[in-house]
Amino acid sequence: MAQYIITPQNPISGTVSISGSKNAALPILAAGLLSRGESVFTNVPSVSDVHSMCHLLSSMGATCTPLCENQVTVSLSSDVRRKTAPLELVGKLRASFLILGPLLARWGKVRLPLPGGCQIGARPIDLHLKGFSAMGAKIRQGHGYVEAVCDRLKGCNIYLDFPSVGATENLMLAACLADGTTVIENAAAEPEIIDLSRCLTAMGAEISGAGSDTVRIVGKKELSPCTHSIIPDRIETGTFLTLAAASHGDLTLTNVHPAHSKPVLAKLEEMGFLVEMGEDMLHIAPCERFRAVDIKTLPHPGFPTDMQAQFMALLSVADGTGLVVETVFENRFMQVSELLRMGAKIKIDGRTAVIDGSRRLSGARVRATDLRAGAALVIAAVAAQGETVIDDIEHLERGYADFEKKLQSIGASVRKTE
Ligand code: UD1
Repeated sequence: MAQYIITPQNPISGTVSISGSKNAALPILAAGLLSRGESVFTNVPSVSDVHSMCHLLSSMGATCTPLCENQVTVSLSSDVRRKTAPLELVGKLRASFLILGPLLARWGKVRLPLPGGCQIGARPIDLHLKGFSAMGAKIRQGHGYVEAVCDRLKGCNIYLDFPSVGATENLMLAACLADGTTVIENAAAEPEIIDLSRCLTAMGAEISGAGSDTVRIVGKKELSPCTHSIIPDRIETGTFLTLAAASHGDLTLTNVHPAHSKPVLAKLEEMGFLVEMGEDMLHIAPCERFRAVDIKTLPHPGFPTDMQAQFMALLSVADGTGLVVETVFENRFMQVSELLRMGAKIKIDGRTAVIDGSRRLSGARVRATDLRAGAALVIAAVAAQGETVIDDIEHLERGYADFEKKLQSIGASVRKTE
């Protein structure tokens, strides 16, 4: 397993260009399955989750060009039907389940291995399946597989018990080719949902309400290919802002969508940071002393769970005591034991963590247990005294494009060893 070796240097400074959003790219690549012709997706980030999704699409019979210069093309001729997806690909990537909606709508029958649970929680798929059942699909589960069968999906009203991002996306994808109108209530409202809706609309779908809690989709007989540019990654944006904040850095981010980062920007400002905003630019100025704040993760537009771990690293070096409440996933404090090894003072009680700030973190050997926990360790390492060795950085490569190069370009001393 590869490692990062990080040695603190001068405060980071410079400019980073933010890549396309991983979480927007994955459902949009799955949307490519909805038409026969070739859709072209640009600003696609070169991260391992995207590469895995491209392999998965190809394994199901789609034509998917390898990611080149941040561009991917996807098409699916109806004639090629693969019975099931390779277990190792589905196990790698939870978003693999997003191919169920489009393939069920196109083929009327799909069998997929259940996506594995991951470190941050059980991550069931019951909301996806309830939605497909409501649309008329017969669902069978057994031996680690789920099979969905239907003649043609029928539009209907679906109320989600929780505004699940993945379930909203999967049902939107399927509903585009259903017979009649589907209304998803208590839908997720993340920016990635709006981007998916924009892409599907460009393919000829009729969708309203994306970005609100009620999404309405009028089904069509078929969709056409499109060209679509993926939105900037708001979590990569937040990660670099937090890194700069923790290391008293002076950082400019380009190719961003500042409105998507509002919950993170509001917390940074509450801590005392000055963040300047342009149309597609953000600049964070150095701040010697900054105060602790409380954070509660919530579905959008609340504070994103994907930024919780990075903020915990920042709170470890803030003045005072901060509370972090994780309401979205039941087991998302994997970074805590590693931050403790670096001198952080954190106590956990259920879904609440109390972070006693004002710590001088010290370098240690730690392990990236998942993508965002790994990002938190990079932030802590850049702010710490002494050398930090982070094991298992493959997790970081799932979601951060050219991370090491971007970090080096702003003065962080990061070395990768295999
Ligand atoms: C997506 C993001 C992930 C982010 C998460 C929440 C992608 C590829 N990943 O994941 O980075 O952390 O949104 O913003 O976009 N749930 C159920 N039943 C279901 C589905 C979900 O109980 O059928 C629960 C989950 O266990 C979790 C909560 O709903 O507790 C939120 O999950 P969901 O919004 O579905 O997350 P993902 O789409 O998997």
